[in-house]
Amino acid sequence: MISRRELLKDASFLLAAAGAAQPVLSWAATQYDVPTIPGKDGMILRSFRFLDVEMPMEFLNSWITPVPHFFVRNHMHEPSTVDAAEWRLSVTGEVEKPFTLSLADLGKVESHTVINTLECAGNGRAFQHPSVPGIQWQRGAVGTARFSGPRLRDLLQRAGVKTAGKHVMFRGLDEVPGKVPPFIRSIPIQKAMDTDTLVATQMNGAPLEKHHGFPARALVPGWIGAASCKWLTEIKILDKEFDGNFMKPGYRFPNQPVAPGGSVNPDDAHPVTGLNVKSVIASPADDSKAKRGVVPIRGAAWAGEADIAKVEVSTDAGATWSPARLAADHAKYAWRLWSYSWEAAKSGEYTILSRAADTQGRSQPETAAWNPSGYLYNAIDQVKIHVEA
Ligand code: MTE
Repeated sequence: MISRRELLKDASFLLAAAGAAQPVLSWAATQYDVPTIPGKDGMILRSFRFLDVEMPMEFLNSWITPVPHFFVRNHMHEPSTVDAAEWRLSVTGEVEKPFTLSLADLGKVESHTVINTLECAGNGRAFQHPSVPGIQWQRGAVGTARFSGPRLRDLLQRAGVKTAGKHVMFRGLDEVPGKVPPFIRSIPIQKAMDTDTLVATQMNGAPLEKHHGFPARALVPGWIGAASCKWLTEIKILDKEFDGNFMKPGYRFPNQPVAPGGSVNPDDAHPVTGLNVKSVIASPADDSKAKRGVVPIRGAAWAGEADIAKVEVSTDAGATWSPARLAADHAKYAWRLWSYSWEAAKSGEYTILSRAADTQGRSQPETAAWNPSGYLYNAIDQVKIHVEA
């Protein structure tokens, strides 16, 4: 695993390659930079100080995302070392019998597997108008993996949650810089007790890699990625929602529609939980060229805790729509890959759109609900292509 010192060397190289005058730690990369994060080749580096890498759409070509192509979102420094032998997980708070587990103890608890599409709440933020501050994710702060590990519910039942226990707080081993508030969040007890909510130790059949939370992370399926705390070391049952920066004002969505550019009182906003219905076009790439004839159009669609009901494609900027074919692979909480074979009869400029609808009756809107943090962006996706004779 790469050390921070080595990463810094990489950053200096990247900055030199990008022609940057001064290496600044808060520098955020542009799509033109060549990321050299070991294990994440070809990914788009969005931030280096706290590692944030995005999957380019050319990598969205399999139902299960290989770990090297899985996005990384860190609010602070990853722990520089995590010693598996020393690591402990405590379960405390509003419980009858608090306890602490080693990794070996955790390995003895029955394991369960969930195939989950994990999406950052800020995915698509770059498309918000007017623009909002934060990591400017485009389409690829999302991936689908097979997560395995004990059910959180089994640990909570062993501890015996008191009737006062209403929320479950997670703390990770992030290295918190200076006075920055730690990344601590909570989920309601109902979701924590769901049979699919895990303390995951494996991703795609191998131990979690450090970027993804080694040795254990929460896995809260169908919910925004922020719910799934990495490098988990403390689970605490609380009588109320955790009161900290990453619960309020962070990760809250306005209760009422907000005029684009407006502000929101955090008291008039609720925690972001489940993901929206959304589709993205993986190919053709935006601003690309295609030859006249059959142009394959493909992508992925997901809907958090709901299932995808249909995906439609338009090749005439939304004047007409045709159903896309949904690929056979599917699982609760996992995206569906889709495809559409378009016969491009004439050369010219085309706008291709995709829109998904789910089993809860939700469908992708033409314009996403603007909010000051740019959460849950899910407008109908579009790419422009030039068809040549
Ligand atoms: N857990 C800790 N401890 N620290 C973090 O910064 N980031 C969260 C979540 N868990 C984060 C964390 C966010 S915002 C997201 S989107 C997911 O991790 C990303 O998971 P990944 O990096 O494995 O893709």
